[in-house]
Amino acid sequence: MERSLMNGAIENRMQKFMFEGKHIVVGITGGIAAYKAAELVSQLRQRGADVHCIMTTHAAKLVSPITFGELSGHDVTVDMFANISHWDVEHIALARLADLFLIAPATANIIGKVACGIADDMLSTTVMATKAPVLVVPAMNTNMYENPIVQRNIQTLREVGYTVMEPEEGHLACNTSGKGRFPKTEAILAAAEKLLFGRHLLRGKKVIVSAGGTQENIDPVRYIGNRSSGRMGYAIARAAAMEDADVTLVSCTKELPVPEGVSVCYVQNARELKKEMDARFEDSDIAIMAAAVSDYRTKTEAKQKIKKEAHDALQIELELNPDILYGLGQKKTHQFLVGFAAETNDVIEHGKEKLVRKNLDMLVANDVSQKGAGFNVETNIASILYRDHTMEQFPIMTKEELGRVIVEKIAERL
Ligand code: C5P
Repeated sequence: MERSLMNGAIENRMQKFMFEGKHIVVGITGGIAAYKAAELVSQLRQRGADVHCIMTTHAAKLVSPITFGELSGHDVTVDMFANISHWDVEHIALARLADLFLIAPATANIIGKVACGIADDMLSTTVMATKAPVLVVPAMNTNMYENPIVQRNIQTLREVGYTVMEPEEGHLACNTSGKGRFPKTEAILAAAEKLLFGRHLLRGKKVIVSAGGTQENIDPVRYIGNRSSGRMGYAIARAAAMEDADVTLVSCTKELPVPEGVSVCYVQNARELKKEMDARFEDSDIAIMAAAVSDYRTKTEAKQKIKKEAHDALQIELELNPDILYGLGQKKTHQFLVGFAAETNDVIEHGKEKLVRKNLDMLVANDVSQKGAGFNVETNIASILYRDHTMEQFPIMTKEELGRVIVEKIAERL
């Protein structure tokens, strides 16, 4: 059975901008990190969100509401009773509008007020009135953060279903160092994305993903490599983490930013990659070999740089590398095993053969000779083949999108 369709859930995510069509209310409270919320608001809007800001009066003393007004494109609300120009009471209107409610930075004060049910200003009142998921981003002095009262209030928020991020450790505005820093914008965006789109599809699952191209040394300065960028594997890792999996990337590249919430182990050549994948395989639920592994390695690695003066012609003897995926297929018990097949002809036929020979549950096949598919480009054109001899063909999409499709398809078949 062959299908080339896409279900609605996937189609809905085929959007250029991550937060397109989503209304996000950002509450800014009076911590020094309030200025960092400006970058957050700007990034949310650049990624398609309709952003509305509410500031506490303390926050408005630290950063002008004009800044947030400009960055969000909407008037900023500070005072409950100012500027109400219509009958749809503002705090109820924003509370209803929100698909996601963010409080960033969140001071000990707002955390305490919300935890105790106090609604005495625009922000605390609107949070109280919303049914949207709430993401709280604490940022404060370490002693304040560690204060048992603050910790108890954070615990209360978590118990009622709010998501409270962990602050970072590092330099703090009070000229000390410790836990309490406002997290990186990317980390907040990833948490927001997870709350808006994550469906907990892989909750409790351990996932290992290999990514990038291996490098086999010829001498201390040269290697045999390939054009793989690692983007496909990183996109899968990111999508799996968004679905609550415990994800480890075994990465042949250090060039890409590690997705939020993903552990990484760096390797260089096929033997190192095999060692790390083998070590983690038994304990994992899903193993995805997205890495482009060199089939051959040099038989000997020169200790010194090979000099051209010493050779008119140079012959390098190569020997076969182990097929890591085949090895995993042999010892597979409960694991869901996914392989990739980059081909330049007869993609489906080669893919079917590989799926059986390597004992896989799923194989992602693509024709790397097609424009928009394969190595070192942002997009891919894939067919997914399954163990039960069915397959699905997908149109061109970004690797980020294909990563989400792959994760969704794995979850369907677990
Ligand atoms: O046989 P072929 O190299 O085309 O298979 C590709 C798949 O096998 C990919 O998933 C790749 O990560 C994996 N592979 C491997 N070890 C190798 C070569 C490829 O695990 N030595």
